Amino acid sequence: MAQLVLALILGLAILTWVASGVVETTARGWFERDVGDRSRLVLVSAGPSLAGAWSNQSSLGQHLAELARDERVMGAAACGLDLQPRAATPGFPTDFGCWAIGARLRSGGAGSSIREWSTVADPPSGRIHVSVMPVSSEAGQLGFSILLHDLSYIQIREEKARSFLLAAFCLLALLALLLPVFAARWARYGWNTELRTFLRGGGRGGKREFQPLLKDVRELVERMAHERDDVPGQWTARRLKQALNRHLHGERVVIVSNREPYLHERTQGGIEVRHPASGLVTALEPVMTACSGVWVAHGAGSADRETVDANGRVRVPPGEESYHIRRVWLSEEQESGYYYGFANEGLWPLCHIAHTRPTFRAEDWRQYQAVNRLFANAVCEEVDSEDPIILVQDYHLALVPALIRERLPAATVIMFWHVPWPNAERMGICPWRDELIEGLLGSSILGFHTQLHCNNLIDSADRYLETRIDREHNAVAKSGHRTLVRPYPISLEWPVKWAEAAASPRDCREQVWHELGLKPGALLGVGVDRLDYTKGVEERLLAVELLLETHPEYRGRFTFVQLAAPSRTKIERYRQLNDAVEKVAARVNERFGAEGYRPIVLLRAHHEPAEVYRYYRASDVCYVSSLHDGMNLVAKEFVASRNDLRGVLVLSEFTGAARELTEALIVNPYNLEAAAGALAEALRMPPGEQADRMLAMRSVLAQFNVYRWAGTMLADAARLRSQERLSSRLSARQPAMV
Ligand code: G6P
Repeated sequence: MAQLVLALILGLAILTWVASGVVETTARGWFERDVGDRSRLVLVSAGPSLAGAWSNQSSLGQHLAELARDERVMGAAACGLDLQPRAATPGFPTDFGCWAIGARLRSGGAGSSIREWSTVADPPSGRIHVSVMPVSSEAGQLGFSILLHDLSYIQIREEKARSFLLAAFCLLALLALLLPVFAARWARYGWNTELRTFLRGGGRGGKREFQPLLKDVRELVERMAHERDDVPGQWTARRLKQALNRHLHGERVVIVSNREPYLHERTQGGIEVRHPASGLVTALEPVMTACSGVWVAHGAGSADRETVDANGRVRVPPGEESYHIRRVWLSEEQESGYYYGFANEGLWPLCHIAHTRPTFRAEDWRQYQAVNRLFANAVCEEVDSEDPIILVQDYHLALVPALIRERLPAATVIMFWHVPWPNAERMGICPWRDELIEGLLGSSILGFHTQLHCNNLIDSADRYLETRIDREHNAVAKSGHRTLVRPYPISLEWPVKWAEAAASPRDCREQVWHELGLKPGALLGVGVDRLDYTKGVEERLLAVELLLETHPEYRGRFTFVQLAAPSRTKIERYRQLNDAVEKVAARVNERFGAEGYRPIVLLRAHHEPAEVYRYYRASDVCYVSSLHDGMNLVAKEFVASRNDLRGVLVLSEFTGAARELTEALIVNPYNLEAAAGALAEALRMPPGEQADRMLAMRSVLAQFNVYRWAGTMLADAARLRSQERLSSRLSARQPAMV
């Protein structure tokens, strides 16, 4: 061992010696080149003033003194072609005087021209850089100037560098001596026992004092890990992919939701691919395209079965095929109880404050349980490891996290709830609230759009279940399993591909004007929604009615187009809404319509994103009037579509989006006067103000895009995963306590 240490020290000494030589020569070369460049620059720029003062010795002397003000300049001189000094700074060394230098550089006989030149001289007094530059006027060369730089400071720096290297050598030698001593000690006592004892705070009493220190270290590591993901700069699909590789070592992601990202529909012209109207899909599709993996979802399209392979899989997006959808098939009975019944007549109205009474039926609940099990089974068939990463989406699948945990205890399950979570009192009316919360607590991370909804969930868990709540870390522990409850406001990809692909706003406007038969000079408002009672479509049309009533100048001029995608039409409440909206539109058109003018245009049909973006880009104002909405991506889409910085967003304060898009005109949609006032303000807003507001909102979207949303969630999951792996390894190796 001693021989090894000696050899190591000798090796280090040789390495240090060689390194110091290389470092010295290279650094000296750099410094001297720098000085040369600086001298040349100084003399070239001083040339015209020296030439101007050539015949006036005192003025020439002043110019030279000016050049020599830098403390590293030893002196400057101006010499004639006869090699006689015209002027020089005091104490200019004669060894480098006009004659000594000029005689070496003269190209011919006496009075011949002198060329530009530089060198490093090494007299016993120390190294000197000499720089010579011809001085000329229009009449020809007058003489030359000399600038001398003292290079002794470089020697001082070299000495310092040498001392540093020596110190580094001593330190390394010391380490080389100490390392084997520690190694021997650890080998003797068993390093892993030591480490475990140390990390656990010590079963042998003596290490307990490290507990606070360890806590600090853990916190520091956690903070550093956070900082790495919060580094400034935009999140992109590429960065998300890299984060996935870095944190999760490229493990593929499995997403599970009720709604699928692409539906295959049979039409008269054959099979068509449709993008469903769903904020969930809008947000997650780019994430999945970036990460690749599997998306498990209900196959609801009329041609879905015809387009899958024997395992129910189809590769998407069409043409790109970066991931695949695994379709889950449901019978009519299952769909009716699980989707229409429990999810959309029970949970949807329960979670949204929109004054529609939730309906809970025992049969629907049974179907909900059975279908959740079907989805969980499909997920377990798709995973390729014991500890996969699974992203479960929304209120249709509340039981899935716990069902997955039963079968794959080491899985990292991230559940994201896309709708609001009601307060504990309201949640209390659901007959199966305990089972729902228990299902959700199977997740590792449970995400909501806002902190308020996180608090509501934690309160509900606290009130209805036997849990341990850690309010400091926003975590809920149940039966030994811990779930982190965190806000992750969802967003769009950036830039949005539909906005990039769209025609110019001017062309969009022309097309839409033509389609709707609008007059030149007309003003256009737009609303884009699924026909759902939470979206406040009736209130929106009532606000338009009030606008026309109170601002007659907009009659005949302002048109509001509502793109309304039929949704959940088997449910009575949705049919009622459809009729109510139709009635209001008809009444407003009756009241204010005229020959060739319809104030409200109701387009009740599914619109593909390209078409929706055309309307966004053609409009003067977009009104999002949700009565309650987890986030609302229509508001964000409108902003994303306006790269021309025109258009105004009027936005309900009851959306999650209103917390981020604060430069929109924020309104309470129940307050019709305020909403009509905001519409009028939007219509007369000067273009400069529109641009300022748009710019501010667009920069928020660019920064807080969906890649960041997914990236932070996955990074949190990865941290959790490594903590869990570490603690399970430690506890596996821990000797039995006696
Ligand atoms: C909301 C829900 C989504 C759902 C979407 C469309 O945004 O949070 O989960 O996909 O509405 O509704 P649908 O019932 O058509 O899927």
